[in-house]
Amino acid sequence: MDAKYASSCTEWEKCPETTLPEYAFIGRSNVGKSSLINMLTGTRGLARTSNTPGKTRLINHFIIDASWYLVDLPGYGFAKVGKKDRAEWEAMIRQYLTNRANLVYIFLLIDIRLEPQKSDLSFMEWMAVKELPFVLVFTKADKLSKDKLRKSQKIYLDALKEEWEELPPIYITSSVDKAGKESILNLIAESNQQYLAAQAR
Ligand code: GTP
Ligand code: MG
Repeated sequence: MDAKYASSCTEWEKCPETTLPEYAFIGRSNVGKSSLINMLTGTRGLARTSNTPGKTRLINHFIIDASWYLVDLPGYGFAKVGKKDRAEWEAMIRQYLTNRANLVYIFLLIDIRLEPQKSDLSFMEWMAVKELPFVLVFTKADKLSKDKLRKSQKIYLDALKEEWEELPPIYITSSVDKAGKESILNLIAESNQQYLAAQAR
């Protein structure tokens, strides 16, 4: 897979002009968005990762095989920035997600070790209202035993079922042992084909 950094932009109007399909990674700070992008592309250091939450502050585009984009977004719910900054970031992300015409899927990342967080649940709610296509990606699966992983997943899904009639597609991943890599790349490959077919019509 050929993966290259393409651009960073501060707002959706300044993102690359393209009709190629793209996939955006969103979620709380430190959940593992940048790490997952590196894992999926097999390119260490492509997206910048850090122990310091809030590392990614721009809309970062990466071009894959010259034919589709992965997009690394700033994390939300980062406590250490001021309220005003946070509101600006959130507005920027929401505008990008609602306006970007070539956006095929949003990957909402969730740390498998945490109980359902209000910020994630309300973000899902917002995406549903806006009719944005998204999938859930549980991250850091390597940090839990199989048993704990199952329990954690059940707690999460039970919470979702209280609010939702239908659950979005769910992927369990680890950037450390590459769990979930194939399934996510398959989803992207299939979606790229559908996107191209729709474009050709
Ligand atoms: P922001 O850009 O700050 O929003 O964070 P991010 O969501 O891009 O997270 P990032 O990929 O920078 O990862 C945050 C920390 O979690 C880093 O120390 C990573 O090494 C670690 N990490 C990410 N994914 C995994 C994983 O699957 N397993 C383990 N064990 N650690 C992970
Ligand atoms: Mg990041």
